[in-house]
Amino acid sequence: MRETKFCKESYVVKTSIVQPPDTNSHGTLFGGKLMAYIDDIAGIAAMRHARKAVVTASTDSVDFLHPIYEGNAVCLEAFVTYTGRSSMEVFVKVIAEGLLTGERNVCALSFLTMVAVDEEGKPIEIPAVVPVTDEEKSLYESAKDRAQIRKKRRKDSEERAKSFGSELPWN
Ligand SMILES: CC(C)(COP(=O)(O)OP(=O)(O)OC[C@H]1O[C@@H](n2cnc3c(N)ncnc32)[C@H](O)[C@@H]1OP(=O)(O)O)[C@@H](O)C(=O)NCCC(=O)NCCS
Repeated sequence: MRETKFCKESYVVKTSIVQPPDTNSHGTLFGGKLMAYIDDIAGIAAMRHARKAVVTASTDSVDFLHPIYEGNAVCLEAFVTYTGRSSMEVFVKVIAEGLLTGERNVCALSFLTMVAVDEEGKPIEIPAVVPVTDEEKSLYESAKDRAQIRKKRRKDSEERAKSFGSELPWN
């Protein structure tokens, strides 16, 4: 029988302070830096669930809902919400915290798909995830719809990739 794991077994929390080198000319965290944090924490959550090497197959859109200022703490939380045979959907929540005021704002939410792979980079089976809390159950149930959207998006991307050449731009 297929192994199962609870969502909470993949929970990851990462908090860091926004330093000047991480900011843009508005004094807020670079979007690219935040995306790297999101990918990083999602990978750890997926590896905690699968206990295998993982690759990022896709990242759903990331909406930057609120700026994260220099000196804020940037707090990320992630866990595996849904599993296929080799793929895992990981939910990431990003909160900015004013360390002097205690004010906390949700700055971004993101869903990533991570795939467990063997030594040759081929997808391999992972344990199924079991949701327990109301939030986990709600994300688990809605994951099926998101998976359908991704399936179509992947197909569209593959078609479009075929129609673009890979020649060097100056040719
Ligand atoms: C992701 C990857 C391992 C898929 O390999 P593949 O041989 O095409 O295998 P499959 O088509 O069987 O896909 C494997 C699983 O990934 C899922 N998947 C693949 N691409 C996906 C995408 N773009 N979005 C969502 N899920 C995806 C499939 O649905 C399947 O899920 P399941 O096993 O749970 O049913 C392969 O495309 C790859 O290595 N991509 C590059 C990853 C990478 O380098 N990431 C870092 C980016 S810089």
